[in-house]
Amino acid sequence: MADLKLQMAKIADAVNGWLDVELNADSAAEGERQRPERLVAAMRHGVLNGGKRVRPFLVVESAALFGVSLDDALPTACALECLHSFSLVHDDLPAMDDDDLRRGQPTVHKAFDEALAILAGDALSTLAFDILASRSSADAAVRCELTTMLARASGWGGMIGGQVLDIEAEDGAPTDAEIRTLQAMKTGALIRFACEAGAVLGGADDAARAALRSYGETVGLAFQLADDILDVTADTATLGKTAGKDLDADKGTLVALHGVDAVRDMLGEAVAQAHEALGGFGAEADGLRAMATFIAERKS
Ligand code: IPE
Ligand code: IPE
Ligand code: MG
Ligand code: MG
Ligand code: MG
Repeated sequence: MADLKLQMAKIADAVNGWLDVELNADSAAEGERQRPERLVAAMRHGVLNGGKRVRPFLVVESAALFGVSLDDALPTACALECLHSFSLVHDDLPAMDDDDLRRGQPTVHKAFDEALAILAGDALSTLAFDILASRSSADAAVRCELTTMLARASGWGGMIGGQVLDIEAEDGAPTDAEIRTLQAMKTGALIRFACEAGAVLGGADDAARAALRSYGETVGLAFQLADDILDVTADTATLGKTAGKDLDADKGTLVALHGVDAVRDMLGEAVAQAHEALGGFGAEADGLRAMATFIAERKS
């Protein structure tokens, strides 16, 4: 775990540095006119605010299995973090989960205003695709594939579709299968993208790519199970976001359906499956193995 913490810090530092340069008002790209200062400030607030950077870690470590350097994986890792941060900015809006606190700070609509939070989320989303389409790889076919993959992972059949199902589930009594589907979409799809993107960046063969997809799917499930357990067991200060929200909002979670103890067992199974999916790799996948365990045991 000590190695994992170091590697997480190294990747988080690289991501923060890259995004700090990227998210500025001064260097308008070709085809752009002007980047409004308040919009840039709101985008920076939404991204450069101390996230764990789990998804970038997964991109970088998956790509490293195929010899891709940190520098070469960084644009894809940062594009995904922009997309993920957009999902959080919108998730926190009054019309959605209505949260005041994110990553230990006021949410974007609290620090600025609601209109700007909506627009900052929109701009983070389009920035993610700009980065993927223009800078993710020297190979145009790879850039195109990553762009298509993220559009699908984040769109109507992925994260955004899952957020719609999540809201609809508040008014119903979703079954175990329905909850798993909505979670695989709202959270799992971006995490699966992270792992598969590493394989695409590295030109992995079909078998290795399938293994990473399978790892990503189980880690994605584990991630949301842990998030839902933490919502009922952790405190707001440790989480950096308001605890106890899911019960209040009548969210469709497996914790609500089966209780914390049963979901802890499911979480253990998911981690074991994630480790199994990496069976074809050697010590080079130890970072991904450690991350699966971290995701289950994390405190925030
Ligand atoms: C929170 O994601 C949203 C979920 C999908 C549960 P993270 O726990 O990765 O949030 P940050 O990026 O570290 O703040
Ligand atoms: C968030 O799920 C999923 C996305 C942002 C797509 P939650 O609503 O449970 O995430 P938190 O708990 O607010 O981070
Ligand atoms: Mg939500
Ligand atoms: Mg939420
Ligand atoms: Mg949650």
